[in-house]
Amino acid sequence: MLWKLTDRLRLLSRYWESLAFRLAAAYTLAGLAFIFLTTASLYLVLLRQLEKSTNMFIADKLNVVRTLLRDRPTDSDALREEIELETSAREYQRFYIRLLNEQRKVILTTPGMPEQLNLAQLAGNEGRHPKSAFEIVGKHGHAFRVATAVAPVGVPAASKDIIQIAVDVSQEKELLARSRLWFSAILAAACAFLPLIGYRIARQGIRPVEEIASTARRISSSNLRERIRAEGYPFELASLAGTFNKMLDGLEESFERISRFSADIAHDLRTPVNNIRGEAEVALARARTVEEYRDVLGSCLEEAVRLSNLIGDLLFLARAESPLSLLHRERTDITQLLTRVREYYEASAADAGVSLIAACPGEPIIAAIDQSLLQRALSNLVSNAVAHTSSGGSIFMTAKTDFSNLHIEVSDTGAGIPADALPRVFDRFFRVDSSRSRALGGTGLGLAIVQSITLLHGGNVQISSKRGEGTRVTLSLPVSLP
Ligand SMILES: Nc1ncnc2c1ncn2[C@@H]1O[C@H](COP(=O)(O)OP(=O)(O)O)[C@@H](O)[C@H]1O
Ligand SMILES: [Mg+2]
Repeated sequence: MLWKLTDRLRLLSRYWESLAFRLAAAYTLAGLAFIFLTTASLYLVLLRQLEKSTNMFIADKLNVVRTLLRDRPTDSDALREEIELETSAREYQRFYIRLLNEQRKVILTTPGMPEQLNLAQLAGNEGRHPKSAFEIVGKHGHAFRVATAVAPVGVPAASKDIIQIAVDVSQEKELLARSRLWFSAILAAACAFLPLIGYRIARQGIRPVEEIASTARRISSSNLRERIRAEGYPFELASLAGTFNKMLDGLEESFERISRFSADIAHDLRTPVNNIRGEAEVALARARTVEEYRDVLGSCLEEAVRLSNLIGDLLFLARAESPLSLLHRERTDITQLLTRVREYYEASAADAGVSLIAACPGEPIIAAIDQSLLQRALSNLVSNAVAHTSSGGSIFMTAKTDFSNLHIEVSDTGAGIPADALPRVFDRFFRVDSSRSRALGGTGLGLAIVQSITLLHGGNVQISSKRGEGTRVTLSLPVSLP
């Protein structure tokens, strides 16, 4: 017995975890409460109305008889008409009146009254206000509303008569009973159908959520194409589906990027290794002079340096991405930093016929940054600028601060970057012209490293460029002084 009960409870609590069940339950309860309140108040209004009209009828009758007794006590015809004759034509009386004198002797009675009513039940209530009428059951099972009143006879009053009036209210009772039945039937039907309707509505409402969940289940790294089709969804769920789709767009893009990145790594590692291998195989094919061996070793060394640079850059990026990577911030004079970078690239800029200018207008700028990392970022930018600016052009490095940020800008008057390539220049291994970049010794990781250094500092990097006019890269770093 007990285990059956606990089993039931467990089942119920499992259902309770279902959103559709909860919504249906809430809907049913609200619906039932509404229907109950409506039917109950309708019933009460009906009850009140019927009672009121009966009471008014009684009061009216009493009034007529009282007036007759007071004003025309001798006009027994009028009184008889009111009490006996008016209703004598009917077989079924709706009301009965009895007039007694002060000594309780019956003066007038509506015909049929003794057959319908147990008259003893009427006595003993004289003087009651008609409003305090009460109900009795007649001899044939009909319900009657009964009132008694004392009426002075003549002006001035010679005596006091007693009027007893009984109104048959069995039709009203029947109407009320029928309404009760109807209202209970409506409630019972609501009890039966509201849960079903509620459950259907709730299920229909949460169907989009189930669709979203099943799409989410179907999605895996090899199946990122799937999207939720949110047409016809209510707007709350459409926005959820939209967010979900956007998240999938992001995921798909990063997965694509990662797989492109792996392919690029493989390609970029294979080229120098193949070159070394080819040179070594050719050299070993027959005996060579010392001079030839030296040449082969020289180009092997070149490839090895490229390889180790590439691996160094990749390692740097991997480390920078690790959440454990720490910055060694120190107070740094930014002007000095720019000057150092300029001095380092002065010779190669001069070789290329390009002027390289570092300028920090105004007060010296001191900021807490990781010196060696920022120097590396600036070096990457300047080396790009030198590589892509032809003779006669110039490169500017400037730094300035506003209230919260340090802005370092490297701009050149070089070849510029085509607009369609601009959004991708920070991608790893992306080069506008890969053979030219490789020939210049680039790994395609320079700007990716600049970006990750800026992100490590909590800042951001922006690039703008126009083909044939030049390129401008701006690093914005939040300043934090130790
Ligand atoms: N200042 C610049 N002017 C013109 N093109 C540039 C400039 N800086 C970068 N680029 C383009 O962006 C690409 C990516 O740059 P980067 O990541 O430094 O790789 P790499 O220099 O090794 O090619 C370069 O291949 C080049 O095409
Ligand atoms: Mg570069």
